[in-house]
Amino acid sequence: MSKPDKPLRFPPIVAGFPHVLHGGDYNPDQWIQWKDTIWKEDMRLAKLAGINSLSVGIFAWAALEPREGEYHFEWLDEVMNMLAENGMIAVLATPSGARPGWMSRKYPEVLRVNEYRRRNLHGGRHNHCLSSPLYREKTQAINTALAERYHNHPALGVWHISNEYSGECHCPLCQERFRDYLKEKYGSLEALNEAWWTAFWSHSYSDWAEVESPSPMGETNTHGLNLDWKRFTTEQFVDFYLHELGPLKRITPHVPCTTNLMGTYPGIDYFRLAEALDVASWDSYPQWTGTEKDIETAIQFSFKHDLTRSLKAKPFMLMESSPSATNWRPVAKLHRPNVHMLQSMQALAHGADTVQYFQFRKGRGASEKFHGAVVDHQGTENTRVFRDVAAVGRRLKGLDGIVGASTPAKTALIFDWHVRWALDDIKGLLQSKNNYEQTVIEHYRVFWKQGIPVDVIDSVRSLEGYDLVIAPMLYLLRDGAAESIGNFVKQGGTFVATYVTGYVNQTDLCYQGGFPGPLKEVLGIWCEEIDALYPGESNSIEWQGKSYRACDFCELVHSRGAEVLGVYGSDFYAGRPALTVNSYGKGKAYFIGARTPVEFLDDFYRLLGKEKNIPRALDAELPEGITAQLRTDGKTDYTFVLNFTPKTVRLDAGSRGIKDLAPYEAWISESPAPPR
Ligand code: GLA
Ligand code: ZN
Repeated sequence: MSKPDKPLRFPPIVAGFPHVLHGGDYNPDQWIQWKDTIWKEDMRLAKLAGINSLSVGIFAWAALEPREGEYHFEWLDEVMNMLAENGMIAVLATPSGARPGWMSRKYPEVLRVNEYRRRNLHGGRHNHCLSSPLYREKTQAINTALAERYHNHPALGVWHISNEYSGECHCPLCQERFRDYLKEKYGSLEALNEAWWTAFWSHSYSDWAEVESPSPMGETNTHGLNLDWKRFTTEQFVDFYLHELGPLKRITPHVPCTTNLMGTYPGIDYFRLAEALDVASWDSYPQWTGTEKDIETAIQFSFKHDLTRSLKAKPFMLMESSPSATNWRPVAKLHRPNVHMLQSMQALAHGADTVQYFQFRKGRGASEKFHGAVVDHQGTENTRVFRDVAAVGRRLKGLDGIVGASTPAKTALIFDWHVRWALDDIKGLLQSKNNYEQTVIEHYRVFWKQGIPVDVIDSVRSLEGYDLVIAPMLYLLRDGAAESIGNFVKQGGTFVATYVTGYVNQTDLCYQGGFPGPLKEVLGIWCEEIDALYPGESNSIEWQGKSYRACDFCELVHSRGAEVLGVYGSDFYAGRPALTVNSYGKGKAYFIGARTPVEFLDDFYRLLGKEKNIPRALDAELPEGITAQLRTDGKTDYTFVLNFTPKTVRLDAGSRGIKDLAPYEAWISESPAPPR
């Protein structure tokens, strides 16, 4: 199967700028008084570091509108002109992430209300109500003014909408919108009562006005309500984003828009939010330690890069990363030599077309004064970090070819926010160890280690073009997901499911007639019970003459047509199916009944990879801590080989020869692309 519509090369994010964007958050508004010296020096240093783009205005509302209706764009005019004169792209932000004090004081409705129904005081950031008509009016006014002022400006390249949308608001206005959302979704209170199973504990609603967002002071046990509140909150952000976008799309339709995401942040379904973005972007802050632990960190962050790329199925922006220490980590460890280069190349390897930082210059005060920056308080280019950044800048100049190159993944791993929300809410099974995200990453790890490109998608994206689809713990089935998986297998795809699959429908109601609900037929099984194991306790899966440890969850499975490949080794269910495969249409559906450490997944997916002939980025056995990732434009393949260990590692790279990878080295090898 091939992906018919997926181009091998995408246009650059900024039209007419076919280079990797290199730069990051720049706060000249903190230095207005010193602009004659500092701003000038900033430009000199930026160019010296090979920086070609700076993100401005992110938290600049107070500088742009210090008093209501009194706009001060003079300083930003100067900054934008300065960027243009120096050949730099401006990633221009809308300032809604934080607002001036006068606004909160005059219009307290803009302040967020927490789940205890208490209104916040002014301060911090991400502290606004998403429904407030006043806040919406004010953001639209300033966004309009920005777009009108800079629509023709040669520096304007990308709109950076707000900053890291997060949190939720429980004010009366938001409650009202929540009820409207539910009315539209369910049509009647009867339907809502049924969908949420409200007869439980006498929780039935007799009037819409009784519906309130979940709160520790009130309702938290109606799982359907909890889920719909999260979905509603996502819709609030989508709606707010679109509201911010209105004037920008009207006045500057040619400029791509994004908002910076946070990997697997739990509060917003990013697949849904991404539908509104032109390009996905995210802020990546791995905690490198300089030890073998970095391998684990690398896997987690590779996963998040792949996830962000998959949101739009095209290259993304690494909107922020730290060129050195990250101040909010418990230990603000410095990057070891080579690590800055490595983390930047890692993002590129997984589909980023930008390497951007927080922050360009360290501020003198407040809470981020010790966060890593390109320019330190010391103020010159004579620092180790500056030289690291400049080295990235030099290398990126030779990597124009990568801009727009695609990731040819034939494997998709399902990671779905709705599943995660429902799993996080479960009372039962192994409450403290449902570990959805970690479980998905356990499966991802095997592919990372073998250098097999993977897309990370949710359960309602199209499965067309994939050979292998893996859905760990697909506990909740959203409307259409089971059908889509069924069709995928029927047409010849290979599907892998695990314990805790197909228990509840989209409103968190358990399926009647046996688990895995509507996937019973595809998987050819019925799961009658599930055993939760105490920490340290284990069973085993006996498969192909080997015994693999099973822990946490053991699903008690009956075959209903599936072939039994592996069985449990002990306890009262010894000898019963633990690993099955079912032929369905032209494809196969596997079921792994128990949680297993990586050894089993390694062997299992290696076998599947061979059977399905899934290509690897590099035809080589990769030593521990090394991954290979691939980008291609259809003519040239760019193979990234990344060493996440503090050791020199010898790699037999087949036709590419023997290669000694230095500690934390990122090696990029180009070769003609084979037909795909
Ligand atoms: C986030 C924010 C930035 C900054 C960095 C620090 O990603 O978007 O404004 O606070 O964290 O790591
Ligand atoms: Zn509100």
